[in-house]
Amino acid sequence: MFLTLPKPETHAAPAKPLDLFQAIADLKQELNAVILAHYYQDPDLQDIADYIGDSLGLSQAAVNCQADVIVFLGVHFMAETAKILNPQKLVLLPDLDAGCSLADSCPPDRFAAFKAAHPDHLVISYINCSAAIKALSDIICTSANAVKIVNQIPKEQPIIFAPDRNLGRYVSQQTGREMVLWDGACMVHEIFSERKLVDLKVQYPSAEIIAHPECEENILRHADFIGSTTGLLKYVQRSDRQAFIVVTESGVIHQMQKATPTKKFIPAPPTSNCACNECPYMRLNTLEKVYLTMKNRTPEITLDESIRQAALKPMQRMLEMS
Ligand code: 13P
Ligand code: SF4
Repeated sequence: MFLTLPKPETHAAPAKPLDLFQAIADLKQELNAVILAHYYQDPDLQDIADYIGDSLGLSQAAVNCQADVIVFLGVHFMAETAKILNPQKLVLLPDLDAGCSLADSCPPDRFAAFKAAHPDHLVISYINCSAAIKALSDIICTSANAVKIVNQIPKEQPIIFAPDRNLGRYVSQQTGREMVLWDGACMVHEIFSERKLVDLKVQYPSAEIIAHPECEENILRHADFIGSTTGLLKYVQRSDRQAFIVVTESGVIHQMQKATPTKKFIPAPPTSNCACNECPYMRLNTLEKVYLTMKNRTPEITLDESIRQAALKPMQRMLEMS
């Protein structure tokens, strides 16, 4: 992709279009930067990443990275998580408005009161939350390790699970553990239409339905396989089926198609005729913004040190228990 920069006033020659892919590669070397991207990013952004992963993989990559600068292609809570784990590194996010409806559904003041009302409960929070919520939590989990982590908690220990009620309900069903759930949800995973999903299954009877656990129960009931984005990607590679109806943010299909070019992937439709199966926050990052972010070394993620330290403890527990 090319970007034509405005003509510098003092130069007579016309401005040459800038090859953004090359310019980003050059800046990566200059900054000693690593580019980490989530599967829900635009395909162009996935293609410039050094590492593409789900939230767990991205956290592990952030811990192990040797670079001076982390360019995070994802949403704010993910870049913030990288900063929690790497306070000495410059962590850049191309658009600071790349938030998350699920993280927003759990404001720290209300959550602190909720926690105070359940004083004997252990707090397990899904990584899709702010650093302030992480700081109020005992253990963080992702969609990839939530069941494994809950299974390690002694049976008699009561648990609060926040902020996603859909993942919480799914984990409860998988582990047989009753948990007190915070009533939050993701705007993308709430929007899938059960009726349209069933219509698709009628149209493609041999296709398997694969879904992310953030989906509502009426959708998950139809799924042949449920997993994190990495889990879904691995599943399509090992399944002998040739077609899949993918019930999560449609960005993940890019890697599925690359890994298994002969297979067919059908994005599950939302209730209305919108592109609501694309996360509007994830899609705020663009190639142009990545270039400008690296060139100007801003916007960067900053964190209050006391919140960072409090948020680090439950993150470390997660990494130990994964
Ligand atoms: P993963 O755990 O699969 O990365 O999911 C993150 C997410 O934001 C899902 O909406
Ligand atoms: Fe948040 Fe949903 Fe977007 Fe994931 S898909 S980042 S949970 S709004």
